Amino acid sequence: MARIKIFDTTLRDGEQSPGVSLDVREKREIARQLARLGVDVIEAGFPIASEGDFQAVREIAAASSDENPNVVVAGLARAARGDVERAAAAIERASRPRIHTFIATSSIHMEKKLKLAPEQVVDRAVEAVRLAKSFVDDVEFSAEDAGRSDPAFLAEIVTAAIDAGATVVNVPDTVGYMTPWEYGELVRGLFDAVPALAHVDVSTHCHDDLGLAVANSLAGVRAGATQVECTLNGIGERAGNASLEEIVMALETRKDVWGHELGIDTRELYRTSRMVALMTGMVVPPNKAVVGDNAFSHEAGIHQDGVLKAVETYEIMSAETVGRDAGVLVMGKHSGRAAFRRTLADLGYGELEAEKVNALFRQFKDLCDRKASVTSDDIRALVDAETTRVPETYRLQHVQFQSGTGVTPVATVRVATDTGVHEQAALGDGPVDAAFQAIERITQVPLALESFELRSVGHGKDALGEVTVRVRSEDRVVHARGLSTDVVEAAAKAYVEVLNKLAAGLGRDRTGDDATAVSAP
Ligand code: KIV
Ligand code: ZN
Repeated sequence: MARIKIFDTTLRDGEQSPGVSLDVREKREIARQLARLGVDVIEAGFPIASEGDFQAVREIAAASSDENPNVVVAGLARAARGDVERAAAAIERASRPRIHTFIATSSIHMEKKLKLAPEQVVDRAVEAVRLAKSFVDDVEFSAEDAGRSDPAFLAEIVTAAIDAGATVVNVPDTVGYMTPWEYGELVRGLFDAVPALAHVDVSTHCHDDLGLAVANSLAGVRAGATQVECTLNGIGERAGNASLEEIVMALETRKDVWGHELGIDTRELYRTSRMVALMTGMVVPPNKAVVGDNAFSHEAGIHQDGVLKAVETYEIMSAETVGRDAGVLVMGKHSGRAAFRRTLADLGYGELEAEKVNALFRQFKDLCDRKASVTSDDIRALVDAETTRVPETYRLQHVQFQSGTGVTPVATVRVATDTGVHEQAALGDGPVDAAFQAIERITQVPLALESFELRSVGHGKDALGEVTVRVRSEDRVVHARGLSTDVVEAAAKAYVEVLNKLAAGLGRDRTGDDATAVSAP
């Protein structure tokens, strides 16, 4: 029974998703949760891409050696001296550092992008692996666009990379072009052509342009791959990467077919997915497998009837296995602090500090006044909001608005700062726009709203509304979130949270620092 290693690249390939920008603090928080989830490798970033990426990889590497010494921390590098040296410096404090170096191997990439002959590409790969090996023992080599590469050339470069010291060989379907049987054949053919592959880990890395990333990754595992590269919620370049939660649950649920072992604590999947969605601002569609809101709901009468009689009629895995429950009623108005603390522990938040628990308890009591029943999903949402909260330079005290058919929407907002309490009113295209304009009048900070998402936490007319915004302020991009049973208030809270993050120096500076600024080596 082979042990399949899960290589998470949410913080690197996932962060390359359009519109995503995580700051160092958020990346550290996600890395900590990934370790709790039990991933084998965290690809923490692309250190040459920006100073922010370098710092994030460095901090994650240092923290992992204290907190999770068994997890491998990888830094990405093109097959070029400067990249490899930068990656080496970023991961040097990890207890298990890995340099992941790559170069494209398809004719289309070699001719059009790299403008190099195949022999030159092999030389560069070998030099990069050798250089990486002078810094660390664990070196991964990726043949970018392997899916469209000549299999014979792929075998040649992989052999050379292993001779130079590569310990992991990755076979990316960079453009998500392959079918599962083609990808499986590619991996199987490589094993046949390169006997040395039996002594290293062979990895899959599949993109989802045709919706086949998970199927292709599993075909790779079937052909002998022992590492799968994936991201939470499947985020990543263009249509994204293979989704971690789907790969893991496919391997776990159908162990009878696969027979592989994983090191993942599946009960942490939902929590990790939520954290990634909140911090990246990439909302999970309701029908998303494993982690979507509807993944365990049964709507049709015939299904409900079946599930009530025997749950296995329509459920192939239980919600609890992935760390969710049915959003059940957990607490009521009369529940005390001790019961609240116990509920937090039951939901997996046993490690929260007393101060946070007190703040959460106050919010829980407020919620009980507004909502007939408080569910586990509500409590999770409160904890997520509290965990990402920053010092309150601006405190939203009050929002009032008037809107309706044939009425120009107007909002009045009151915000407290160190200089006192400020109130402003503004008109807008809708009540949310009016509230945002009033906040901008008070703070005088120019903000450009890039995205706005509204989701309901659980069901019912009195459900909590969760607003996620992405806002640009000059060159900084910030994500924030607000929660309330009143969606305009939730939106105002999210906007004020943006201002607090900016005041705390958070958010990501996008001035020419993203991976798109890095071209081929
Ligand atoms: O998709 C890809 O080829 C990559 C490599 C850098 C591994 O992300
Ligand atoms: Zn990729």
